[in-house]
Amino acid sequence: MSPATHRFDSITETALVEQGSNKWTTYPGTIGMHIAEMDFGVADPVRKSLDEVDRRDLFGYAPEWLYDEVRRATSDFYADLSGYRVPPERIDTLPDVLMGLNVAMDHFSAPGSKIVLLTPAYMPFFTAPTFAGREVIEVPMIKGESDWTVDYAGLDAAFKAGGGLLVFVNPHNPIGKVYSAKEIVRIGEVVEANGARVYADEIHAPLVYSEHSHVPYTSVNEVNAGHAVTAIAATKAFNIPGLKCAQMLFSNEADLAVWKQKCLFTAHMASNPGLFATAAAYTGSRDWLAEVRTYLEGNRDLVTELLPALVPDAVFIPPQGTYIGWLDLRATCARLGIDPSALHTHILEKGKVSFTDGALCGTGLAGHLRMNFATPRPILREALERTAAALSE
Ligand SMILES: Cc1ncc(COP(=O)(O)O)c(C=O)c1O
Repeated sequence: MSPATHRFDSITETALVEQGSNKWTTYPGTIGMHIAEMDFGVADPVRKSLDEVDRRDLFGYAPEWLYDEVRRATSDFYADLSGYRVPPERIDTLPDVLMGLNVAMDHFSAPGSKIVLLTPAYMPFFTAPTFAGREVIEVPMIKGESDWTVDYAGLDAAFKAGGGLLVFVNPHNPIGKVYSAKEIVRIGEVVEANGARVYADEIHAPLVYSEHSHVPYTSVNEVNAGHAVTAIAATKAFNIPGLKCAQMLFSNEADLAVWKQKCLFTAHMASNPGLFATAAAYTGSRDWLAEVRTYLEGNRDLVTELLPALVPDAVFIPPQGTYIGWLDLRATCARLGIDPSALHTHILEKGKVSFTDGALCGTGLAGHLRMNFATPRPILREALERTAAALSE
């Protein structure tokens, strides 16, 4: 962690509450750490692009040249990020990554097949399949000392039990794991052996920390490219999820043809301001992204450093990417006699910090909390101290 003062350090809780975001108004009087938004505003080019929409009165339907611009910007950004180029002709827009999962369930998986999640998983991945009448099969990740491993046999069993679509999230929200090429190849082998499909959610790909790099699921070989569709967006890394614009990347002609035949309305659901802001984020905001990523890595290090002193029996595997952390407080609950299923409420009420209840991220995960550490460092420190105080009674 860098001890030097950074401009983000001086953003205050009062200012954030006044802004009125979801993060700071859902649980009034608490430090908001539950929803995936950052407290650092947006890059200047993004702001200017929205001024431009306003100045030119571009509140109508998005013009073709704008879609083309987003396709080109996405292709370049993704290539620079990962060394893997998806040509603009194989990129299209959609309003958000969750919608991409709906599309993947409807058009890129066997009808009625079950949806496979590596857990802990992002909360809406449990509800979206249920809304679509699809069952979920959970494959818990295996927790090690400093990293997590996929249960490949469990994954195979999930497909054998009717799983048709794996939602593969890399970097993995909420554990922050960044998958290696070797792991991705092995996952692909299990998927392929079962004739299943993959929805690769790479929304957090621009937020990978030092010593790791983003490997796109479809980049490793033709097998993976043949059975996956990928979604990315500027929305997490550039902090614009409310603008509704994501991108679908196609790694084989057959899927692209299905998309063109059946999903064009979905492409047009991306918002006009979102398209503008996305192009500005991918092309003109890379310095801002680098600054944010370094700051977030410092925050990750602060949590790693402070937590053992504040809550000695908390288990925290430092995330390799994303600004989401996963806290295992089961031992703390046992020590204090707190019902794990009441942990989230306990800290909300006594510490005035709003985490996400880990139980929403998979079966048997009560006693865990999901935290968003994309906040000014003094606020992060206070949140951890207040959490520790709530756990010391
Ligand atoms: C892994 C992951 N996928 C999808 C989403 C939701 O993205 P969108 O707002 O584009 O639906 C999030 C939001 O935090 C996320 O973390």
